[in-house]
Amino acid sequence: MTRTISASRVATLVGPLSGDERPLYLELAEGLRLLIGEGRIPAATRMPSERELTTALGVSRTTVTRAYAELRDREYAESRRGSGTVTRLPLHATSVTDRIFAPWSQDPDVVDLNCAAPSAPAGVAAAYEAAVAELPPYLSNHGYYPAGLARLREVVAETYAERGLPTSPEQIMITSGALAGAAVVAQALTSPGDRVVVEDPVYPNATQALGHRSARLVPAPVDPDGWDLAATAAIVRQAAPRLAYLIPDFQNPTGLVMSDDQRAEYAAALKRARVTPVVDEAHQALALDGQAMPAPFATHSPGAITIGSASKQFWGGLRLGWLRVPEPMMPALLQARMSLDLGAPLLEQLALVHLIENRHAVWAANRERLGRQRDVLLDALDTQLPDWTFHRPTGGLAVWCRLPRPRASALVAEAERLGVIAAAGRVFAVEGGLEHFVRLPWTRPADELELAVTRLAQAWAVSSSRARTGEAARDDSDRLTVA
Ligand SMILES: Cc1ncc(COP(=O)(O)O)c(C=O)c1O
Repeated sequence: MTRTISASRVATLVGPLSGDERPLYLELAEGLRLLIGEGRIPAATRMPSERELTTALGVSRTTVTRAYAELRDREYAESRRGSGTVTRLPLHATSVTDRIFAPWSQDPDVVDLNCAAPSAPAGVAAAYEAAVAELPPYLSNHGYYPAGLARLREVVAETYAERGLPTSPEQIMITSGALAGAAVVAQALTSPGDRVVVEDPVYPNATQALGHRSARLVPAPVDPDGWDLAATAAIVRQAAPRLAYLIPDFQNPTGLVMSDDQRAEYAAALKRARVTPVVDEAHQALALDGQAMPAPFATHSPGAITIGSASKQFWGGLRLGWLRVPEPMMPALLQARMSLDLGAPLLEQLALVHLIENRHAVWAANRERLGRQRDVLLDALDTQLPDWTFHRPTGGLAVWCRLPRPRASALVAEAERLGVIAAAGRVFAVEGGLEHFVRLPWTRPADELELAVTRLAQAWAVSSSRARTGEAARDDSDRLTVA
């Protein structure tokens, strides 16, 4: 897939050149390199001609010529006969997905909708550069921060205060991602045979992490229309669980948001049953329609453990998350954490401080991009698969589609043959089933999403006609999911 990009779009993305101490061509090349690296100018994009870019940027032709040459030297572009300058990523950077989880992703024609995690928004590379500059004073120390870097704990605590939940840095533990946080909680608070109530459907890796110590997972229903809190309260009463895991903000996979009233009701039910809520807020910062989010669940439940993540609001490659816990709980959690790892990487923690300090600007651009991609995906589904139904998600990263017939695994297998990878409902089912559902993330660029829906529509037609003729469908959709 070769895309094109206009000179004016490149000029907007690059922004004004500052004319700092570097030669102008290097500043331009550096800006373009970051844009290509971050995917804002995707690889395999035909760049504007030198003449067009010269005019759009108001610089000399030599500046653009030398900037393009610099990009080619550093393997961020190549010259193609008839196509001019085409972007690329250096070879060492092209294995963008771990082949263990996604062997198919090496094929550039395959659209991977299995993983609901976006590429890095603007600002991540700059945060790393700032972090590298700040690193030297830390090198004379041992570099272990089991609870997390003090400054990072402070800024994370500030984000809760901003959301109406006063929090001290001592309540925050920085972990290597939200999932690692869930593993710490399981390690500290569960024993073999304990029960943990989990939503169903649910993000499967988190429930596996919570089940590490052989806890028994007890499913509580989340319908496409919302949480069944009456049923959940009855399950909580009967099961007498140790913990209840919930994702109230853009639940993965349904995309639902729990209302303030529901949060209060659920928190009260858990309090009555003396159950500790474990609240996963991985998607909390992804409201795409400019709406205010409900207050954090912990405002209704002072004893709650809240799990946060840098992955979706910033970037998964940071591998950072955190726990917010009642302060008296911290020593036990720290002890449990030390049996799993001894702290998160320092450079990433320094980078995350910068991203959190600049969060409103980073989020604004990221939400704009994700909102556009969501609209493209939903419009394509409306047009090409009108008998699939879904609630229009107001944020998060994926839509939970209901198929008119329970053939999600067959659909996914057929779609894979046609070059699109998606996760069937049963990946998210605690006890199997959910064959009526498929989860589709909008984390890829718009043109890939449109192509993916076209292929899904073809796959749906094939798998539906197979069902009519009674032909057995291929069913090889058992796969690991990352996000
Ligand atoms: C609800 C939820 N929690 C946690 C994670 C993983 O977060 P992290 O990358 O911080 O481990 C995901 C990733 O998809 C998720 O959807």
